[in-house]
Amino acid sequence: MTDDLTPKASSPTDLTDSVLASFDAARDERYRELMQALVRHAHAFVRETRLTEDEWDTAIEFLTAAGHITDETRQEFVLLSDVLGISMLTVAVNETDLDKVTESTVLGPFFVKNSPKIELGGDMAQGASGEPCWVTGTVTDADGKPIAGTRIELWEADDDGMYDVQYDDQALAGRAHLFTDAEGRYRLWGLTPTPYPIPGDGPVGRLLQAADRSPMRAPHLHFMVTAPGFRRLTTQIFIADHPLLDSDSVFGVKESLVRDFIRHAPGTPAPDGRVPAGTWTSTTFDIVLQRG
Ligand code: BEZ
Ligand code: FE
Repeated sequence: MTDDLTPKASSPTDLTDSVLASFDAARDERYRELMQALVRHAHAFVRETRLTEDEWDTAIEFLTAAGHITDETRQEFVLLSDVLGISMLTVAVNETDLDKVTESTVLGPFFVKNSPKIELGGDMAQGASGEPCWVTGTVTDADGKPIAGTRIELWEADDDGMYDVQYDDQALAGRAHLFTDAEGRYRLWGLTPTPYPIPGDGPVGRLLQAADRSPMRAPHLHFMVTAPGFRRLTTQIFIADHPLLDSDSVFGVKESLVRDFIRHAPGTPAPDGRVPAGTWTSTTFDIVLQRG
């Protein structure tokens, strides 16, 4: 052992051991496990990269800027977790029964709790602009049994790539919730999803620029699906064959969540009898919930 990193008396390794031991008495076992793992990995990072004091100052400035830009409607730390793939990895390590139930993906920062309720067949656009999209599907358990009364929250950006909460007027649009019928079915009008950039005017935007990374998200429609006795599902569906599927800025695309959005010519009647003025699309998303 001749390299510079060889442990010596009072070496960084002794330091790591001391910091690890400082958590030994933590009463909460899980807290102790998490903090000691964090210290081990963070110290290994400093040793591996030979982090300079200037670089650590830059990192602290970055985190400070993330704190300053964060408020009730803007969460830069979640965005950081998203672009580093930590959100998706956390989703992945907590998923089980993947072959039987619908997969999860990132929540993102644009969910709000007080969405308007719509009836089956209603319109979640609520004034948001875009091409109409007829969305239908079922909610069942892993044995195919329908789950009646399931609450489905949906939200999406308009065709300018903006969520309602990003506009000054704060009017709710492009979001709604509804409940499945006795056969576990749902249907509604939404908008054909469009690509949009994640917020780029803060430190996370600068992080992406420094890596020459695109901020664009693959076009998607968000779902949060809740039924008593089942695990809550947070997911999205994505438009098949879209060029951004392979370069989603938050690594949120999963193959099982990609859907065909079929485009219909102007004048074609929709299944509910509506005849949209221009083109419209239709898609289907059958959801399978996990008990628990
Ligand atoms: C979203 O899909 O709304 C989103 C997800 C992660 C980061 C930013 C936006
Ligand atoms: Fe989104």
